Amino acid sequence: MLQTEYIKITEDEAGDAALRRAASHLRAGELVVFPTETVYGLGGDGTNAEAAKRIYAAKGRPSDNPLIIHIASPEDAEKYAYTNKTYEKLAKAFMPGPLTVILPRREIIPPSTTGGLDSVAIRCPAHPVARRLIELCGIPIAAPSANLSGKPSPTCAEHVREDLDGRVSMILDGGESEIGLESTIVKIDGERLTLLRPGAVTYDALCMVCEHVTIADAVTHRLAENERPLSPGMKYRHYAPSAPLVLLAGERDHQLAFLKAAQKKEKCAILCYEEEMPYLDGERLLCVGSANDLPTQAHKLFHALRDADTTDADIIYAHLPPMEGLGLALYNRMIRAAAHTVLQL
Ligand code: TXA
Ligand code: MG
Repeated sequence: MLQTEYIKITEDEAGDAALRRAASHLRAGELVVFPTETVYGLGGDGTNAEAAKRIYAAKGRPSDNPLIIHIASPEDAEKYAYTNKTYEKLAKAFMPGPLTVILPRREIIPPSTTGGLDSVAIRCPAHPVARRLIELCGIPIAAPSANLSGKPSPTCAEHVREDLDGRVSMILDGGESEIGLESTIVKIDGERLTLLRPGAVTYDALCMVCEHVTIADAVTHRLAENERPLSPGMKYRHYAPSAPLVLLAGERDHQLAFLKAAQKKEKCAILCYEEEMPYLDGERLLCVGSANDLPTQAHKLFHALRDADTTDADIIYAHLPPMEGLGLALYNRMIRAAAHTVLQL
């Protein structure tokens, strides 16, 4: 067990001194959790094979699931990967920000960081604490989401503490993650993009910059047995709450009527919309925001799922999100958490 140090990062000298200490931990091969605008990251030296092993051990993650390399500025990608024109276009449009790109890997990134792959995932986060930390390190930071394998990604330092206390040297508290869902991941092949994981950089936004964008099947569908995923992370069972999660589809009125009836006959937790609150019993009721407010729903989803798990519910209900815009990212996370269980009403 490590003695984990917690620090609220403030925008003053004390904050900067803490970031300098965090940077020296990272350079020494130790692990530091840091905030990003998507979710918190569990960071280690991206050029150090030992640090990668420590990350996998701390997270309890299989070591063939590759890590994302975080850089301080988009131009740094060329040091760790072979970039091209398409990368430059994406960088100009979306970086720093919630976009991760997959490119051919340079030797300086060890295979143990990329799960043995010849490619590497690169991201330049927008969060000021993350950027300052990477700058101070002078090395790229390899980081998966800072949850234990099988839990939802953490969107606040308290959730990180629940999962990783005693497993990392430092946890930097930068408040709540603004976006709340992990970054969009695209694989770049020449001029073509494959969307591997939807996020706040939407499919439509990618299409404005690149002509050829394909959505990988695994984003919306279950992988067939024996099917080889484009991204190793797609094959792992993702977060599943201890009570089964069931997604409701169909007319909104029918969904609300179903939920009202369900509350009378079973111990259910409900991820509901703000507009439904007056009509539902307050017990085990978790509001995820207004029905049309997808950014708020994204911001609150993982928090709500963690909260639902702490109730005594036998079953959890939530609305199936639309597949458009940011809805696709919500859809992708929820359909996996629900093991594709959808009730058509
Ligand atoms: O928002 C985010 O992306 C957060 C923050 C911390 O940056 N990170 C994150 O990392 O969500 P993680 O490890 O939980 O998810 C990364 C995903 C995994 O599913 C992994 O399989 C995929 O990216 N990935 C990483 N490198 C890859 C590669 N070379 N080829 C294909 N997929 C890759
Ligand atoms: Mg993750």
